[in-house]
This record gives sequence, C-alpha cells and structure tokens, in this order.
Amino acid sequence: MQRRPSRRSSNRTPRTPDTSWQKSADQYHKIVGQSGHYYHKHVILPRLLEIMNVSPNSRVLDLGCGQGILARQLPPVAEYLGIDLSKSLIEQARRGVKLQNAEFLVKDVTKPIEQPKDHFTHAVIMLALQNMEDPQPVIQNAATLLQKGGQLCIILNHPSFRIPRQSGWNIDERTKQQYRWVNRYLSPLKIPIEMNPGAYRVKTTWSFHFPLQKYVTELVTAGFVVTGLEEWASDKESVGKASRMENRARDEFPLFLCLVAEKR
Ligand SMILES: C[S@@+](CC[C@H](N)C(=O)[O-])C[C@H]1O[C@@H](n2cnc3c(N)ncnc32)[C@H](O)[C@@H]1O
Repeated sequence: MQRRPSRRSSNRTPRTPDTSWQKSADQYHKIVGQSGHYYHKHVILPRLLEIMNVSPNSRVLDLGCGQGILARQLPPVAEYLGIDLSKSLIEQARRGVKLQNAEFLVKDVTKPIEQPKDHFTHAVIMLALQNMEDPQPVIQNAATLLQKGGQLCIILNHPSFRIPRQSGWNIDERTKQQYRWVNRYLSPLKIPIEMNPGAYRVKTTWSFHFPLQKYVTELVTAGFVVTGLEEWASDKESVGKASRMENRARDEFPLFLCLVAEKR
C-alpha cells in the first residue's frame, strides 16, 4: 500500500520564523518609551550618535527600528526611514516620533527592500540583527541602499560574552572573583527568549547567535570595509559587600559590540 507523504516530511521549503516583536510590542514600547531603556540612554545612544555624527543633510536608514527610539533621539536630518516587521511598533513610531522628514514602513528587512539604491548616508541596525534569522540579507540590504562612502553601524549584544542560555556569571569561591562562563560560541544558535516569564501566556521572541567572524565576513562580502569596532560595558555600579568584585567584573566584560563599516 502506498503511503501518502505526511505534511511534515513534504519537500516544501521551511517557513522562515516570524521574528517580529509584534506580540511583545506593548511591553517593549513601555520599556523603551520616548528616551530609551536604561542601556539605550546610558550606554548606546550617547556613543552611537557621536559615531554617526549626522548633519542636516544626512539620510538615515534604520533597519529593525522598533518603536523608533533612534528617530526620537536624532538631531534634524534631511531624511529618516525606519523599517520594522511589527505593525504595532511602527504605529507607535508614527504616533510618537516628532522628527521632521521621518517615514516608517512595516517590512521584513531580510527580504529585498524597494527603495532608491545608493541613497542613504547612514544605516543603523540597533539591537535588532540578533533577532533576525540570517544577518546576510539584512547587511546586503544596507549595502544596496547606502551611497558609496556611507556608514553602517551595527549594535549587538556582545556575541562573544552574551550568548543567551550559554553564558552567565559565577563566583569562584576559592579566589572570591566573579567570572564569566561561556559554554558555546562558534556554533550558530537559535534561542527562544521569554519576554514575560511566569505569565499565563508567555510571549517568546527569538534570538540568533553567530560568532563575531560571521558578521565581519558578511560585511566584507557585501562590499563594506570595517572602520571601527567598540565594546561597551555597563555603567551600573554595585553597592554593598560584593561591590568590588561585581564592579570589576562588570567593567571587564562589555555588554554591547558596535561595528562600524563603510560602503566601498
Ligand atoms: C530588540 S528590538 C530593537 C528595536 C530598536 N532598534 C531598538 O533599539 O529599540 C528588535 C526589533 O527587530 C524587529 N525585527 C525582527 N525581525 C525583523 C525582520 N525580519 N524585519 C524587520 N524587523 C524585524 C522586531 O520587530 C523588533 O522591533
């Protein structure tokens, strides 16, 4: 007797996962608001804006823009285009961003983007590339839409030290030192993150881990030259008995990685 092929074993191409933060949009907007979450405000935006050094003539592309936090903090520019897959976050951006000449689109930035080529002076992917399954088409989109000499800034949770579920803190009781453990690094990983652990309906987002060499390889393949790499530590300070040990560990291990690249 011939068996009917099961749906599971069919040859259909697997669906790309829905990586949008649509289900967590309200929660994310509450955390980020008008001026950003703690690390946007204290670590990321001050230095990112310095590196971008935009002028009133700049044309800025923001891939995975969320509720438009970058546009909420940008000085005046000639053009700003923010793109995100979450309809609700884009609605928040359209409602809350006061920047003149800002436009927002709901789109998947892993797919080709129909916008003028060689157009933007700056592109940013802030805390968003690790929520997309494959960095390659996103970096390729930035390359296609940036003008020659245009700058791309990618901000990541540091891929060498912050691998969800595969890294963390511990204390060496013998030396009384706080250390960082890392279990896995070179293998690509797809990791579910619970946004509201313990809640009745748990909301999950996806995080995708790649080693640093993957990002640099994709940049170079897309025609970028890496012009900068910065590692940003938290500015928080512990108080109390363990503060010396905790502050030292915090100062030693950066939370974020910023890659700066120029389109050649
Ligand atoms: C952690 S949030 C960061 C948002 C914003 N850049 C910020 O710093 O607040 C990650 C964003 O990536 C968006 N995203 C995930 N996959 C996407 C895709 N394929 N295309 C466009 N946006 C995507 C999510 O919807 C979410 O808004």
